[in-house]
Amino acid sequence: MKNILRRIVSAGLVLCMAGALASCAKKKSMTVQKDKLIMATNAYFPPYEYYDNSKIVGIDAEIAEAIAKKLGLELEIQDVEFDSIIAGVQSNKYDIGMAGMTVTDERKLAVNFSTTYATGIQAVIVPEGSEITDVDTLLGGDYKVGVQQGTTGDIYMSDVSGGVGEDRVVRFSKGNDAVLALSTGKVDAVVIDNEPAKSFVAANEGLTILETAYVEEEYAMCINKNNTELLEAINKALKELTEDGTIPAIIEKYIPSKG
Ligand code: ARG
Repeated sequence: MKNILRRIVSAGLVLCMAGALASCAKKKSMTVQKDKLIMATNAYFPPYEYYDNSKIVGIDAEIAEAIAKKLGLELEIQDVEFDSIIAGVQSNKYDIGMAGMTVTDERKLAVNFSTTYATGIQAVIVPEGSEITDVDTLLGGDYKVGVQQGTTGDIYMSDVSGGVGEDRVVRFSKGNDAVLALSTGKVDAVVIDNEPAKSFVAANEGLTILETAYVEEEYAMCINKNNTELLEAINKALKELTEDGTIPAIIEKYIPSKG
């Protein structure tokens, strides 16, 4: 009697395990690692992503956290070189790239972009009292321009039409390194997104932002081209989080509107 019972129980166990395996195989995870949302960023870009002690905070970090929560995933943020984010998303190393990343036609050939959640402007930082007083002077003179490698600031500036051309561009792996080079006179100007520009100028004495903005752009998350399931889930979450006021509140927290 005891033996039969034991057999029934173990047969049941085997069936359960087979069932679990089958459902595992059936339901493929929407993300690279099950139950996780791995975000690649470059965390020297306040107020979108930056270190608060050892924690990465900012607009992108908080929006990603809210999206992960909605999708029932645990957010993991990896701080990498900005110009390695897209390749890592393409090779499924990361689920998303979120780094104040501008949507461009060229990048769209490599990755999908979510709906945009913020706008940016390329600004020009110069030392106070610089003879560079507007974008035309910068483009027309023989000045050295610091940029963060692989960013739109780099792409636009490196172009001879519309920029200053490769020879006059000095590339840095972090935005704040470009700003440091400006402070120490190694470059004459830095082209970088407006909000980081404002925090860098606030943190470094003797620098100012030109009134004339260079280019306007839109920020979005990038996702692997084959992962339309994640793209749709993220767009749905973005829509809900915008409508319920979560995203506007996060942006207002980091970029308070005056008035
Ligand atoms: N918006 C620019 C771009 O997409 C710069 C982004 C840099 N982001 C960063 N987290 N460092 O190229």
